[in-house]
Amino acid sequence: LYIGIDLGTSAVKLLLMDSQGNICNIVSREYPLYFPHPGWSEQNPQDWYEQTMEGIRELLKDADKNQVAGISFGGQMHGLVILDEKDQVIRPAILWNDGRTTEECDYLNNVIGKDKLSEYTANISFTGFTAPKILWVKKNEPENFARIKKIMLPKDYIAYRLTGVHCTDVSDASGMLLFDVKNRCWSKEMCEICGVREEQLATCYESYEKVGCVLPEVADELGLPHNVVVAAGAGDNAAAAVGTGTVGDNMCNISLGTSGTIFISSDHFGVDQNNALHSFAHADGHYHLMGCMLSAASCNKWWMDEIIGTKDYAAEQAQISKLGENHVYFLPYLMGERSPHNDPNARGTFIGMTMDTSRADMTQAVLEGVAFALRDSLEVAKSLGIHLERTKICGGGAKSPLWKKMIANILNLKVDVIESEEGPAMGGAMLAAVACGEYASVEEIAEKFVKVTGTVEPDPELTAKYEDRYQKFRQIYPACKPLFE
Ligand code: XUL
Repeated sequence: LYIGIDLGTSAVKLLLMDSQGNICNIVSREYPLYFPHPGWSEQNPQDWYEQTMEGIRELLKDADKNQVAGISFGGQMHGLVILDEKDQVIRPAILWNDGRTTEECDYLNNVIGKDKLSEYTANISFTGFTAPKILWVKKNEPENFARIKKIMLPKDYIAYRLTGVHCTDVSDASGMLLFDVKNRCWSKEMCEICGVREEQLATCYESYEKVGCVLPEVADELGLPHNVVVAAGAGDNAAAAVGTGTVGDNMCNISLGTSGTIFISSDHFGVDQNNALHSFAHADGHYHLMGCMLSAASCNKWWMDEIIGTKDYAAEQAQISKLGENHVYFLPYLMGERSPHNDPNARGTFIGMTMDTSRADMTQAVLEGVAFALRDSLEVAKSLGIHLERTKICGGGAKSPLWKKMIANILNLKVDVIESEEGPAMGGAMLAAVACGEYASVEEIAEKFVKVTGTVEPDPELTAKYEDRYQKFRQIYPACKPLFE
């Protein structure tokens, strides 16, 4: 048996899989997310650890624990976790959707320069990335900066607590802006720019490599045998790509989670000269490009939970009746936006209402706004000569058939629906199985385990209507931008 741990932003999701890819159990445990200032986003690593441990116990309640062979991860990317010389957490983790580092990003992008950053790391600086956060701590919390012994990413902190090993993997390290993506090693230049010594960083593994075994005292606490292998795992998007079979060349996966991503796998290293798409190492040993929007399913959650005040999302969506004909638009930038605008000051906006606008029209606009914003990243990919015909889909938002239909028609892609849409947790379990030698490669296990059960085909008539809507949508952000500053 293999355990996949998806350390997400709203919850940790754990999945138990057998060696044939059958899912035996799934559990999920939530933890708080703190917004101590507008645009800041933090979590407590101890909460992650406690809920992960509780989650493993719950996951294995009815399983034969002696059969557990391996554990691995998908984890929210970019979060800064800093440890002191006793490996104690120094301050709350600063997350991927935190926007406090505008000044540091300006310094990196404009003073060091985008060309240099791109040469060293294949990427430029975005507020959520790890390096600008290190500079922020250095400037604003010098006493904390002076105590840093290790710099970790969220899932790597859990791997450390389980194994005692300070490790990370190539896909997650790619999002730190301290990593030379092309050569899959730490960038000496970036370490120097950020005042980081290489020994403060974790040892970097390929995602499917073993980093150690669960410590005997932790194994005893969980009732596990003493030889359970822990594999490095991957950032949640690369793990989701593994879990949906998005490996090899020119495959696509869309994730509709708290964030929204469009992930394009590639056999070759490549950089987006527009700096809108990230160029990262993939968990399959190759590379990928990715557009990341900061608020995707979280826009729908905000609209349903906070504004309408309902838990019955399906009932609200059942009222939607104007596909391709909605005159209301929504900009989904509730936490600012990363791809492709790189604008932490961007904000959410409704536009185009009339006296007959209904609640359902606005619900529809929220779902469409997320799909239009993903299309913005797809357009950048097209401008690089990338041609896609189809995509997989995963994440909480992918459970909605209506949203899948909107994605298919707004992006004009065939959306392949797979048996298990448990993306990152499934990918984590698959990486553990490869690390244990059960399968020879990530490609092999993906080919064996991932089954497409149906396809949502774009409808030419609806696609044409949405094309017209999209051309209007893309004019709204530039028009509103001056208001956001
Ligand atoms: C990717 C990113 C998000 C987080 C969400 O660059 O910031 O997708 O990984 O967990």
